[in-house]
Amino acid sequence: KLAPLIAPSILSADLARLGEDVERVLAAGADLIHFDVMDNHYVPNLTFGPALCEALRRYGITAPIDVHLMVEPVDALAQAFARAGASYITFHPEATRHIDRSLQAIRDAGCKAGLVFNPATPLDCLKYVLDKVDMVLLMSVNPGFGGQSFIPSALDKLAEARALIDASGRPIRLEIDGGVKIDNIRAIAAAGADTFVAGSAIFGTRDYAATIAAMRAEIAK
Ligand code: DX5
Ligand code: ZN
Repeated sequence: KLAPLIAPSILSADLARLGEDVERVLAAGADLIHFDVMDNHYVPNLTFGPALCEALRRYGITAPIDVHLMVEPVDALAQAFARAGASYITFHPEATRHIDRSLQAIRDAGCKAGLVFNPATPLDCLKYVLDKVDMVLLMSVNPGFGGQSFIPSALDKLAEARALIDASGRPIRLEIDGGVKIDNIRAIAAAGADTFVAGSAIFGTRDYAATIAAMRAEIAK
């Protein structure tokens, strides 16, 4: 199993001081910066695009940026994020016509590629592209907003995804996104996740370092 990574979602950061807040959360021990891209089409909310990703790079952020595309269509924006300095780019399979081609295009652009599954979306297509994914992201809320509650059925689904990943023998990250908190992260890790997105649970606290340390301690239990 891969080392656990904590991925704060900047959806809940101080957007008027984003560069500083991202530096603060990285200094507090974050591993990845989770970057939620919403288009008011695939999801009923609107956030940020490649220009902001590029601005964070220009500001001096060198940590991996984990771009979660909640957009339709996928391919042109994925390429724009690759040029803007994204590290991981994940998309929802139902938002593209040609899943294999979209994954390959992200890899050809030099990024790690991944698929995101909504709470009620089956993992069916995953087995055909296990050789082309670097990350599997399971949504434990319906995408579109931060601060929602964790949907418990995501735990069984994590176990299902974990079995597929382990059988592949490939170093694929299993990421969970939505409602992750100090008090449920242990069960989430036990179900098989190794990469943990948390927005409100980190940015909603005063002491990011204490929160991230508490999460790591729970994962290690
Ligand atoms: C939801 C986003 C999540 C969200 C998580 O569409 O993909 O990344 O920001 O927020 P919390 O951790 O507050 O549930
Ligand atoms: Zn996300």
